Amino acid sequence: MAELLDNLKQLVELDRSFGIEFQGKPAVLPGEGLGASAAGRTTPVSRPPSPVVPLPAANVAPAQPQAAPGSQRPAVPAASGLAAADLAAIASAVAGCRACGLCAQRTTTVPGEGAPAPEVVFIGEGPGADEDASGRPFVGAAGQLLDKMITAMGFARSEVFICNVVKCRPPGNRAPEPDEIAACQPFLEAQLGVLKPKVICLLGATPLKALLGLSGITRLHGQRQVWRGIPVIPTFHPAYLLRNAEAKKPAWEDLKAVLGVLGREPPRR
Ligand code: URA
Repeated sequence: MAELLDNLKQLVELDRSFGIEFQGKPAVLPGEGLGASAAGRTTPVSRPPSPVVPLPAANVAPAQPQAAPGSQRPAVPAASGLAAADLAAIASAVAGCRACGLCAQRTTTVPGEGAPAPEVVFIGEGPGADEDASGRPFVGAAGQLLDKMITAMGFARSEVFICNVVKCRPPGNRAPEPDEIAACQPFLEAQLGVLKPKVICLLGATPLKALLGLSGITRLHGQRQVWRGIPVIPTFHPAYLLRNAEAKKPAWEDLKAVLGVLGREPPRR
């Protein structure tokens, strides 16, 4: 019962943090400057190079159905259809991967999911127990908070892409080791090469280190970085936010910085 009440209280606090209480107010913790935050800046994005993962033969995009004679619209949205096929090929390469020790204990791989041509890609650390069981990223407690963060930003979950640095669960939810991150990196880079997001949001220290080689999420959160021409905003991992309520307010500022890259503001409620 106490646990239930705690959970409810936490949910109410999170609702306040992401999208209601702090909307439109500058929110910076003492000593936690947001640095050269990206809010409001938009920079032309140069696209990353093609995927570096040699995709299997099955990656060749299937022939596209023709539009019905006389139809005013194309039969399929060609670009996102091709991207979806590439993403599916990457996912199937992930499913067969034995490049590191994580494959030994996985139930299923968790390649990532979402829109094939999203404006925003969120990158977490690695699957936990719920994700390992379901094959879907961020479906546990941290995922529920991530859903709230995405909604507060004005997106549906299906409009963004969500994935992780490693695609198999590290046992006991430990952080992935450097060799495991390195083994999985080609998949992440291939995904980003296909997705071509306008902005990447890194969730916590592990993707900050993996993608940018940087340490210090507490110092660097909210500060705009660049990966292969794509703006990147690091923020706190939702699991960290569940344990550290005081970080929700600066995290919301970080998410607004993500929106700033897109020239957007959070929706009014
Ligand atoms: N934490 C992560 O980093 N990724 C998930 O998919 C779930 C929890």
